[in-house]
Amino acid sequence: MTRDRIGVGVVGTGLMGRRHAENVARWIPEARLVAAFDADQRLASRVAQDLDAVACGSFDALLDRDDVRVVVIASPARFHAEQAVAALSRGKDVLLEKPMAHSLADCDRVIGAAQGSARLQIGFMRRYDPAYAEAKRLIAAGALGEPLLIRAVHRDREATHLPAESGVTDMMFESTIHDFDLSRFIFGDEIASVTTTASVLCHARGTHGHAPNAALSSVRFAEGALADIETYWGALYAYDVRMEVVCAEGTAMIGAGRQTALAVLTPGGATHDLFPGFLERFADAYRAEVSDFVRGAPERRPPAVSGLDGRAAVAAALAGIASYESGVTAPVPI
Ligand SMILES: NC(=O)c1ccc[n+]([C@@H]2O[C@H](COP(=O)([O-])OP(=O)(O)OC[C@H]3O[C@@H](n4cnc5c(N)ncnc54)[C@H](O)[C@@H]3O)[C@@H](O)[C@H]2O)c1
Repeated sequence: MTRDRIGVGVVGTGLMGRRHAENVARWIPEARLVAAFDADQRLASRVAQDLDAVACGSFDALLDRDDVRVVVIASPARFHAEQAVAALSRGKDVLLEKPMAHSLADCDRVIGAAQGSARLQIGFMRRYDPAYAEAKRLIAAGALGEPLLIRAVHRDREATHLPAESGVTDMMFESTIHDFDLSRFIFGDEIASVTTTASVLCHARGTHGHAPNAALSSVRFAEGALADIETYWGALYAYDVRMEVVCAEGTAMIGAGRQTALAVLTPGGATHDLFPGFLERFADAYRAEVSDFVRGAPERRPPAVSGLDGRAAVAAALAGIASYESGVTAPVPI
């Protein structure tokens, strides 16, 4: 069994990459975590030691390994295109974290490199979350009628300390991009334009930097449906991600905001817990995502989230940035 297991290498073993490595090593019997690489050697060594893998001294050394068949890329976004192109060109299957890249030209380079036999999937794991997945299934089956309107909330606890000139770039590429992807996924339609307004809401943290930590994006789809996306960095109470999908014959509400099913009732009232962060809220989704991608390798199953999906979300993020900077609605670049 050990010899036949699918070898996986993880690139970038920070918060996200470490979780992917743990999921591969502990949750996928058909897979084996073979190697890890991080620009910070100590991080890669720690992950390798904890999970019985090898720490590679360079990215190329990881790609050189014949026993690495699947590469999970969780380095910072500015390295994504270059690393994905290199891995795909060497015939490795690639699970590439979002955002796919920061430009459409780079997205196209990655898509081009995936034209051969290697498989490419983009890390929009929320599609694997049981609630989002079930909502999609119901809507696609016509159970709620035509989907018309989405209201999405993404509130993160972390305030940022970014300078004003960075604007909403990080917010669009790191957070809002999930809801651009999900609304495309739910509607099954393309985003035509984005109107984004944003503000520095300093009340959340006294030491907040000067880039906006709150953005509201109005999204218009090609066939007329609308999505309204709130992205807020600085919610002190929890990591709070929810979505409502209003359809012609019903509404799907996704995200109950409870980590466990425990409610505590006292004469003073009822309380329950909340999600502290994304690793807790989407634990099942991260596991299902990497499991599905790796398990699909032997039969060359088409990836669930394609390079074109990744590109469309990047295009929407670019439109959000352009709209914030210009103050008017931005069409989504093709
Ligand atoms: N899908 C999700 O829900 C989700 C959640 C968090 C992060 N992410 C994505 O994962 C990626 C990493 O985010 P993170 O939160 O883990 O960041 P992080 O800063 O915790 O980790 C990034 C790691 O990459 C390493 N690194 C830097 N340059 C590198 C290079 N050239 N090659 C290899 N490693 C390099 C850093 O040393 C660091 O350990 C980002 O693209 C981010 O958007 C996705």
